[in-house]
Amino acid sequence: MSKSDEEFFNSLIKKPTVFKNISCLSVTYIPPHLPHREEELRTLAKYFKTIFENQDEPLRKICVTGPTGSGKTTLTKRFGQLLTNIDKQKNFLFVYINCRIYKSPYLIVSTLARKLNKAIPPRGYSFEELQSLLIRLLDFYSVKVLLVLDEIDYLVSRAGTDFLYVLLRISEMTTKQWISYIFIARNLNFVHKLDASTQSSFQSNHISLDRYSETDLKDIIKSRAEIAFYDGTITSDTIELIADIASKSGDARYAIELLWGAGQCADDEDSPIVYPDHTRKAKALIHPEIRREIILTLSLHQKLILLSIIRKLKHTKNAYISTNDAIISYKLVCEEYNEEPRKHTQIWSYLKDLSKQDVISTKISGEGMRGKTTLISIPDISVETIEMFLMKTIEEQKKTIEHV
Ligand SMILES: Nc1ncnc2c1ncn2[C@@H]1O[C@H](COP(=O)(O)OP(=O)(O)OP(=O)(O)O)[C@@H](O)[C@H]1O
Ligand SMILES: [Mg+2]
Repeated sequence: MSKSDEEFFNSLIKKPTVFKNISCLSVTYIPPHLPHREEELRTLAKYFKTIFENQDEPLRKICVTGPTGSGKTTLTKRFGQLLTNIDKQKNFLFVYINCRIYKSPYLIVSTLARKLNKAIPPRGYSFEELQSLLIRLLDFYSVKVLLVLDEIDYLVSRAGTDFLYVLLRISEMTTKQWISYIFIARNLNFVHKLDASTQSSFQSNHISLDRYSETDLKDIIKSRAEIAFYDGTITSDTIELIADIASKSGDARYAIELLWGAGQCADDEDSPIVYPDHTRKAKALIHPEIRREIILTLSLHQKLILLSIIRKLKHTKNAYISTNDAIISYKLVCEEYNEEPRKHTQIWSYLKDLSKQDVISTKISGEGMRGKTTLISIPDISVETIEMFLMKTIEEQKKTIEHV
């Protein structure tokens, strides 16, 4: 590093900042206090208190639903932290599984088995063998488990409902009710695919979270700003503006991203205070519709297809492109990244999966086009922002693939 580089780096790390603890604004951070979700936390506590009681209880399962950013994941993880802290005897296990990452019933059951015994190999069993192994493990360790299956609606749309029956049946085959369940989904539509009696048992234990109001969001932002920023660095106008912008969707994730972005803008401008104008600048760069975590969970070729769709949409300036155009563009993108393009059937299944995850939207062409073709679009966001983000993650993914 030359002298001037060193000086630059030193001045950068010594640069004053408004952030006291920026990690409190990350997506994985679970705040100790959740404003406007206190009641729901108590409902969970009342419902699952039997986990710590000795008598035999019927199977406990609950569904938590609500729109994006309404605090479903955070509420449940916070509840898990509380339970883990309470259990002094350590015969309790809180297992959180996101079905978008663990995309198959097999992965879910094997992950659960490996939480009980780390020596279990991740592969090599049939699904049936794995189920009976899990039953034996639960009985052997006599451990109470609270299993959270987040984004279960996504897995049901991919794999059907059979695995839900399998999971519920595991609880019937153990000597005691070792497993209790929390299912998280946007809404209860996935339950309608179950048989009538299972449906009604799901519907009767249900916590539905509403989208946050402007006042709710103000309290959430205030309490997060207190732990993430130095005292007096955020004006009340800034908090109000963030709450106002995010209240259109009622999405706390967007509010916290705006808070983070506004702080970054203040730091970039060497301002010791975060003003409303920093929020306005952050708003231009942050789009609530892109869920970066979803893009990160896509496979390399799904990302390449998404990038090709974005490029084509950008180039044509149309709202929709045809699947053929997407495939031609995908082949070019594969060439650029030195990747062998996947076959048509595989591309179709990737497109279907992207559409199920609401990353793209598809419709069948109507009047004015010859024959019927599937048209692809991306929800109303700046394609440029996702393009940059995608290119970065593709490069990172390629680097890690090359290094393993
Ligand atoms: N009541 C709350 N208090 C403090 N922070 C909150 C609250 N509700 C949500 N958040 C924050 O908002 C963000 C989004 O919350 P969360 O991930 O729980 O939403 P979600 O309902 O699971 O959304 P999705 O359906 O998109 O998965 C997180 O960073 C979380 O910390
Ligand atoms: Mg969530």
